[in-house]
Parts: sequence; C-alpha cells; structure tokens
Amino acid sequence: MANRRLAPPGQQPKGFSFSADNLAWAKKVIARYPEGRQQSAIIPLLWRAQEQHEGWLPEAAIRYVSEMLGMAHIRALEVATFYTMFLLAPVGKKAHVQVCGTTPCMLRGAGDLFEVCHRRIHHDPLHVSDDGNFSWEEVECLGACVNAPMVLIWSDTYEDLTAESFEKVLDGFVNGNPVKPGPQIDRKMSAPVGGPTTLKTVKA
Ligand code: FES
Repeated sequence: MANRRLAPPGQQPKGFSFSADNLAWAKKVIARYPEGRQQSAIIPLLWRAQEQHEGWLPEAAIRYVSEMLGMAHIRALEVATFYTMFLLAPVGKKAHVQVCGTTPCMLRGAGDLFEVCHRRIHHDPLHVSDDGNFSWEEVECLGACVNAPMVLIWSDTYEDLTAESFEKVLDGFVNGNPVKPGPQIDRKMSAPVGGPTTLKTVKA
C-alpha cells in the first residue's frame, strides 16, 4: 500500500485554482447532481485537479475542491487519502509509471519490469528520479491481464511488455516521442497472438 500522507510543506504549492476550461467543466459536472448532492462530484473534480497539477494532488487543490463543493476540508481529505488513484506527492514530470504487480502480470514477467524501474527510475516506489522526469509505483490489477505484463502511464496502457520493450517505452517519454500504447508485440488489442484461432470458417 502506498504511503497515503500529504507531501511535506516544502513540496506543496501556495495555492491552487482550476484553469478557466477546467472551471467551466467542473461547473457542468456539479450541475449533474440534484440540489444538496453536489458533494457527489468530489472524485471527478479531484481527478481533474490532479491532471491539471502535473499528475499529483497538492493539499491546496483538495481544499479548493472541498470549498467548491461546500464540504468540510477533512471530508475531502478523507477521500483523497483513501483512494490510491490520487497521488499526494510530486511524480515524474514526463511519466509516472504504474506497474501491475498482481499474479497474472507477475507470472508473465512483471518482475523484469520492476527491475527496470529500480535501475532507471529509483530504487523505491513513489520517489522521483534524479532528473525529476520519472517515478513509479506498484499497483493492483489494471484489467489488462490478457496482455500481461503491463504498465499504465498517465491514461495509456502499454502491454505484452518485456524488459527490452519497456525500456523502449521509457525512451519514448525521454525523447518526447512515446511509442504507440497497447500491445508491444504483434497482437491486435487482446486477440490471440498470431491472429484468430476460432470462428475461422464463419463468413462475413
Ligand atoms: S494482473 Fe496485471 S492487469 Fe490484471
């Protein structure tokens, strides 16, 4: 389980507010809920705040969202610290890598991906690399087991990885030219490797 504490004061920005576009979006999201139930919008608003703030959620953003929704700060803090999708300290500027460490991925070589993270990013999870560009953490199943092992970087998955192809994924973020998300072998989405194996005689 990741450390669910807020980043220390030295890493926290002085304030936070939504950009004009995000503010307009937030107002629309809040309006979806019946009068008196606006607090139900907390998760999408915190998520948007995290996206706006370089992939992590500072305390000022949690306060800002709680005030927007008319909630006590502690209630918003409870949500932000409970869900591991909210990252409470700075992450890599170019990529925060979430490596699936659940059984199917581990059986298919996720250990090699962790070794790459240790060597190229940082020995420990949730620590930013020396150049500030990368961070990593282990997460539970991300629902792409059929293409194990896999990682999630921002909102894209990279699947069917080996240590070598994972290094190429990282190189893509270093160069600002990420490889195409999805399977990193000759496989279409989650179809069998090598092409279809069933229903081959069915005519369109
Ligand atoms: S076990 Fe890794 S995506 Fe499901």
